[in-house]
Amino acid sequence: MKILAIESSCDETAAAVTDERKIISSVVATQIEEHKLYGGVVPEIASRRHAEAIVAVVNEALNEADCKLNDIDAIAVTYAPGLIGSLLVGVNFAKGLSLSTGKPLIPVHHLRSHIAANYINNSELKPPFLCLVVSGGHSHIVEVKDYTDYKIVGHTHDDAAGECFDKSARAMGMPYPGGVHLDKVADQGDASEFKLPYPKIEGCPYDFSFSGLKTAVINTLHNAEQKGETVNKTDIAAALRSRVCDMLIDATMKASDDLGYKTIVISGGVSANSELRRRMTEECNKRGYALYYPELKYCGDNAAMVGVQAFYEFKAGNTAISDLNAFATMPIDKLLY
Ligand code: KG4
Ligand code: ZN
Repeated sequence: MKILAIESSCDETAAAVTDERKIISSVVATQIEEHKLYGGVVPEIASRRHAEAIVAVVNEALNEADCKLNDIDAIAVTYAPGLIGSLLVGVNFAKGLSLSTGKPLIPVHHLRSHIAANYINNSELKPPFLCLVVSGGHSHIVEVKDYTDYKIVGHTHDDAAGECFDKSARAMGMPYPGGVHLDKVADQGDASEFKLPYPKIEGCPYDFSFSGLKTAVINTLHNAEQKGETVNKTDIAAALRSRVCDMLIDATMKASDDLGYKTIVISGGVSANSELRRRMTEECNKRGYALYYPELKYCGDNAAMVGVQAFYEFKAGNTAISDLNAFATMPIDKLLY
């Protein structure tokens, strides 16, 4: 089943042609260079750039796949969660394509597609498994009971892990998106040079709180600046990366031990983090658990993962009608369209 998938939830305009778990083409036009000027994503600029790029990106995905619209069986689109103005560009474009061609329209939840990024390179992976979903906007531990059946077991009470990395990195003078730069800088540092807090939520062992950690980093930098001292950025980057990994790994391992999962999956932009991958691998090896993570090119936002998840949504009967809307927030375990 050939699916034309579209993604525009944040600052990447992406389109792909997929066939079940196979990627025939995948095109991503990123806006990072422009948002860098402002230190983060400016929603109004993001939606304008999506509107400008979407026709060319979709055409390129079809051309790369050597396909015409007639060869496509269904249109899939990210409809939630994300920046509402950005999502609406993709949703309206996909609705137009679906209406004009008569092909089914498949709405895809952004976090479901991040999880599905793992189906691309791990052909043997199938639910049930436990998934840590960590991106710029989300940090969840999710039971993936089936391809379209989820239960959230842990979530952040404030910032997402990627947001904590990005905002701390910005305070250290790194360009947006800071997470990826911080990961490289941290490789040169000594994490033991800074003692950062380990925020925990009383009675919720699978939940996260990252905002206090971010504040601790920013305060350390400000206090030093006020005293005319310099902070070793590589060391504080290493300490932050290490603490975020402690929190993500401890909660995921506790959830897997308590709930009896022996297959662990990580997904979302932060699943590209080198320390998270390395330490998760060590922890899973120790316990004899299987660990899966996406190829680096499918960790961040892309439409290939949307097409793969759309295949399973279609099989489950989750297609939309022409009144499909976009939603800035939407729990992964609910279908409100
Ligand atoms: O999934 P994604 O592309 O967008 C959202 O859905 O939010 O995730 C982007 C996030 C950003 O916060 C970015 O800094 C982070 O993923 N990220 C990383 C790394 N690469 C991307 N964080 C830590 N280490 C990395 N190597
Ligand atoms: Zn994402």
